[in-house]
Amino acid sequence: MARSSYQAPRGTFDVLPAEKRIRRRVESVAIATLSRAGYEPIATPVFEDTDLFERGVGRSTDVVRKEMFTFEDKGGRSITLRPEGTAPICRAYLEHGMHKLAQPVKLYYRGPFFRHERPQAGRYRQFHQVGLETIGSDSPLADAEAIMLLSDLLAELAVPGVQLRLGSLGSLGSRKEYLEELKAYLRSHEAELSKEVRDRIDLNPLRAFDADDEGTRAVMASAPTLVERLDGDDARHFAEVRSLLEAAGTPYEIDPTLVRGLDYYTRTIFSFVCPALGAQSEVGGGGRYDGLIEQLGGPPTAAVGWAAGIERIMLAMGAESAPTGRDVFLAAAGDDQRQRALALAIELHHAGLSAEVDLAGRGLKGQLKHANRIGARNVLILEEDGSLQLRGMETGDQRPVAPSAVLDELQGEHR
Ligand code: HAM
Repeated sequence: MARSSYQAPRGTFDVLPAEKRIRRRVESVAIATLSRAGYEPIATPVFEDTDLFERGVGRSTDVVRKEMFTFEDKGGRSITLRPEGTAPICRAYLEHGMHKLAQPVKLYYRGPFFRHERPQAGRYRQFHQVGLETIGSDSPLADAEAIMLLSDLLAELAVPGVQLRLGSLGSLGSRKEYLEELKAYLRSHEAELSKEVRDRIDLNPLRAFDADDEGTRAVMASAPTLVERLDGDDARHFAEVRSLLEAAGTPYEIDPTLVRGLDYYTRTIFSFVCPALGAQSEVGGGGRYDGLIEQLGGPPTAAVGWAAGIERIMLAMGAESAPTGRDVFLAAAGDDQRQRALALAIELHHAGLSAEVDLAGRGLKGQLKHANRIGARNVLILEEDGSLQLRGMETGDQRPVAPSAVLDELQGEHR
């Protein structure tokens, strides 16, 4: 029997025009913000060899263990829909010999990502990120620039109540000693920890800082933290990032318990949160990943980057739809004027204005109502005697306008 109704798959959604307009705004502000700082766009495939994520993101992470959409293709290869963008970009950096370009290579991207998570507000199985990667610089300036650009982007979009949390994971070598100390601490409190944390003491002890259950949280409140144990170079790097942010007036809070869900991070990590969003409050985050490119078979290459969730930004902005922003609706007072209205609309399009005509045979009154509904800023009425009237929809003012002056009038209005 045929199904009577279909729905978008669980955890996915359709983007309808009113929402698409806000998305476009978020994306265009992101592109403008990042391009101004010299970042160039890059796009990679939405699927990759599974091994790239297992190696890059890390086998002990939830993303790899539980959340990947993995399947075998017709050639028997294991393929995964990308859960994140950093490992694919590092793969592309190596594949295209970008290490031979002037360093660092500064890239940004946007597009869909896929994680098989339990859907809830702000958490989807197909979601969208805009992200930035600065590959080939270990300078604290690169960390500070990346952080400041995300901060700027969120400010430009007027995302309210954003807080920046900052931490450092140290470099891989110096972290080893600390991890041993943390494992020993966790073992000495094993009975109070959740089963999940207990099972992962050896595999991924840092994730204990992220646990929700009360027992683990209580234990973690007095756990040793990495930020207090950074060695000389790591501590200096972190201090430099902090002083650059302070000099730029970017407020932040040090969070010694900050950890991230992906394994590749070293040194600086950061998270931009909007607490008002509730459980899924992180709008964007990232950090330095100095070991990832080597892990993928390349030369040692320092890098830093972030990704922000477009849906989370939109939720935080609280905007559900945006007006169409039509410059003008051309209303024909009689059927004789419809052909002229269309020709004039096309002329206005060529001049860069957005203009629409009635396609539904409405009378003049119906056309004015429709113009209002679609949010047209102006209506140009083509009277039966061939004369023109221009009406500003916000003010309601209406006045005659000469055919030769229409474009100037509307462009003046457009500016
Ligand atoms: P991530 O923290 O896994 O980092 O994701 C970045 C952002 O994507 C999150 O802050 C959140 O806003 C959004 N996000 C993640 N999962 C979901 C979901 N299921 N539904 C909706 N939004 C989601 C990364 O992906 C790293 N590649 C970031 C990075 C770039 N680090 C260095 N360079």
